Amino acid sequence: MVTRFWVAARHPRPTIDRLSQAVGYVGFGGYVPPTELTNSDLEGIVDTNDEWILRRTGIKTRHILAEGETILDMAACAAKGALEDAGIDPAQVDDIRVGVNTWMRFPSLATQLQERIGAPRAAAADVSAGCAGFVYAVEQAYHRILIEKARYGRDTIALVVGVDGLSHITDWTDRQTCVLLGDGAGAVVLRHVPKGGILATHTHADGRYGDVLWSDSVLAGQANGSPKTFTHEAKGPRAYLHMDGKKVFAVAVETMVSDVLRVIEKHREATGERIGIEDIDYLYPHQANLRILEMVGKRLGVPLEKVYTEGVVRYGNTSTASIPLGYWDNRKTKGEGRLEVDVAFGAGFASGAILRRT
Ligand code: ACO
Repeated sequence: MVTRFWVAARHPRPTIDRLSQAVGYVGFGGYVPPTELTNSDLEGIVDTNDEWILRRTGIKTRHILAEGETILDMAACAAKGALEDAGIDPAQVDDIRVGVNTWMRFPSLATQLQERIGAPRAAAADVSAGCAGFVYAVEQAYHRILIEKARYGRDTIALVVGVDGLSHITDWTDRQTCVLLGDGAGAVVLRHVPKGGILATHTHADGRYGDVLWSDSVLAGQANGSPKTFTHEAKGPRAYLHMDGKKVFAVAVETMVSDVLRVIEKHREATGERIGIEDIDYLYPHQANLRILEMVGKRLGVPLEKVYTEGVVRYGNTSTASIPLGYWDNRKTKGEGRLEVDVAFGAGFASGAILRRT
């Protein structure tokens, strides 16, 4: 009897209660390459102008990878920054998830990152979900942390990175797309926290839109598609990003709005707590285009001062990096107890949202 009690105390039976333990972000990192491309630089590459770009997109500058600089370099800088911010040694990391669309090799970027930062005990995998890759990766890491605790009683530390080198697949002769895109990486560390953290997640996809935003980018290999080295002959036109901008715009607004409402609703279903849009302190939408962000804010009834928009102005559309880059940008102003929502939408179409308390 005594022995059985001792075993049960040391290895308590998993209960559903443990699923309600809080999991949140404890560290933030970010990186953009030093090479900056302004709107007037683009005037020398395609037939465009600063006024058109600002009015239609809000973008002023974007950063692009230099010759010899890689997506792995960006991911490693952001990851190391997040671990340092969290005070976590890489050897303590159990799980690495990387949202990425432009790593055109195998093995995965996550495994190469595991080796680069020195995290030998971590499992590592990439997540391909367009610009929503980071949100999908956070959801997966969050669920794993909950399940490891509930099933095995183990505390798990996860590193989640969103990174893309869109300049690798940018057609620098296509003025409709090349003005929008930039390179960058952002990272967070996730683990159990005493309170707050992630309250609900929601992910969604609609594969009917596969031909609206696409690239056969595997054809581009790891060559650097900088404005200087671009040739259609070298890579073939299918290797570059193709987009029906108007269709992306309309579905992006619709879906981001419904995903925010859905994640709030999921939280209510799980806990009974009613959260209204007016309770949201801050929104981190994927930084695709300032006009999309303005429209999403307006449709939701969230004033623009509560919406992160600085990223798209400074970095352009950095795909799956844009939300964690936003956290990193705002890291000095992060307060406790704030209710925040992340929402992303991208190729696939794939989308998702996270409801969190800081
Ligand atoms: N500079 C100057 N003129 C341009 C440029 C440019 N860079 N690009 C297009 N134009 C011209 C067009 O040729 C057209 O000229 P015309 O009237 O003589 O034919 C005119 O501007 C209007 O073009 P539209 O394509 O109708 O412009 P629109 O208002 O749709 O804006 C844009 C284009 C900015 C791409 C818009 O459709 C958009 O924001 N779409 C969302 C796409 C997006 O954000 N994608 C990001 C990737 S997906 C994601 O992250 C969710």
